[in-house]
Amino acid sequence: MYKAKAYSATSATSPLASATIQRRDPTDQDVQIEILFCGICHSDLHQVRNEWSGVMPTVYPCVPGHEIVGRVTKVGSAVKNFKSGDLAAVGCMVDSDRTCKECQAGLEQFCRNFTLTYNFPDKHLGGVTYGGYSDSIVVDQRFVLRVPANLNQAGVAPLLCAGITTYSPMRHWGVTKGKKVGVVGLGGLGHMGVKFAHALGAHVVVFTTSANKKDDALRLGADEVVISRNNDEMQKHAGSFDFILDCVSADHDVSSYINLLGRDGNMTLVGAPEKPFPVSAFGLIFGRRSLSGSPIGGIPETQEMLDFCGKHNITSDVEVIPIQKVNEAYERLLKADVKYRFSIDMASLKSE
Ligand SMILES: NC(=O)c1ccc[n+]([C@@H]2O[C@H](COP(=O)([O-])OP(=O)(O)OC[C@H]3O[C@@H](n4cnc5c(N)ncnc54)[C@H](OP(=O)(O)O)[C@@H]3O)[C@@H](O)[C@H]2O)c1
Ligand SMILES: [Zn+2]
Ligand SMILES: [Zn+2]
Repeated sequence: MYKAKAYSATSATSPLASATIQRRDPTDQDVQIEILFCGICHSDLHQVRNEWSGVMPTVYPCVPGHEIVGRVTKVGSAVKNFKSGDLAAVGCMVDSDRTCKECQAGLEQFCRNFTLTYNFPDKHLGGVTYGGYSDSIVVDQRFVLRVPANLNQAGVAPLLCAGITTYSPMRHWGVTKGKKVGVVGLGGLGHMGVKFAHALGAHVVVFTTSANKKDDALRLGADEVVISRNNDEMQKHAGSFDFILDCVSADHDVSSYINLLGRDGNMTLVGAPEKPFPVSAFGLIFGRRSLSGSPIGGIPETQEMLDFCGKHNITSDVEVIPIQKVNEAYERLLKADVKYRFSIDMASLKSE
């Protein structure tokens, strides 16, 4: 074991602060990574503040962070695809059982025995896993991704969660040229959803509560922007969408979006608000519409998404911050004041 620097929360109400954690020495299957950038996902905030206590209660101290890009510093003797000095990335999972039918299909996000990057039982050290708000991490080679060299590193980090979480359902539900696609909520996930839907050739409509994001939405690839608090603007799109991706982190009226779907249209929730919400049965019955959810994506598809980004020159629009500003960044997330992802420059941890 060795000591690593990190930022952790000690309770649901305490701010994140400097801490020292233990990391395992790399085994023969492991890749040790010096973390260069880590994105701030709204899930980090939900988890740190124990807002998902019913599903995934938080164990403290909690070191969040699952949008990790870094430089390989050491590899185990059985590691094939990485060597010291390579760029590498880690997302929301660091392990799974590898034997179930989901793992065999490369759909590790559905494995009942996966290990998430933080706040999950750590098979090696006991306790729980610690995430990317840290100067280094040690991960099994199967869960380490290759990073296209042409992309900006700070902007790559958010692809590991915001990127794959929006790419995967769009591929699953057949977002292509000729489809009308809605993206609800222009935050970290939403802005990646817009970029992917546009790159896949769809007609993209952004739904936002923030009128001041309109120009950005168009720049990011939207064809139209709807201010969702304006009911007349909403109704103009009734019954017209093939697919809507809901990326909202807080309470909102999901049913009003279902009514915008056309026949056999699907709305997928990736946003994970704390509280359940009502859904009208008739909204789904008329039009044979469906409502579903989607978690991140498997390891092969995450690599596919990164390669797609390399080819299309897609990264997240980031505001790079030092780790010392992480608590301020969380407050800004709650005000939808992020353009469009915070990416922590981990060099700032050296001074702690
Ligand atoms: N399914 C998965 O695997 C997965 C993976 C990652 C994250 N998530 C979840 O996805 C959600 C979004 O994450 P994120 O990191 O993209 O968050 P984020 O950057 O904070 O963006 C959320 C956006 O939702 C909109 N919004 C916020 N409050 C709202 C309200 N009260 N009513 C309507 N719209 C509101 C805002 O967009 P506008 O300003 O445009 O309205 C805001 O920018 C979180 O719940 C997160 O936990 C799920
Ligand atoms: Zn995330
Ligand atoms: Zn499995």
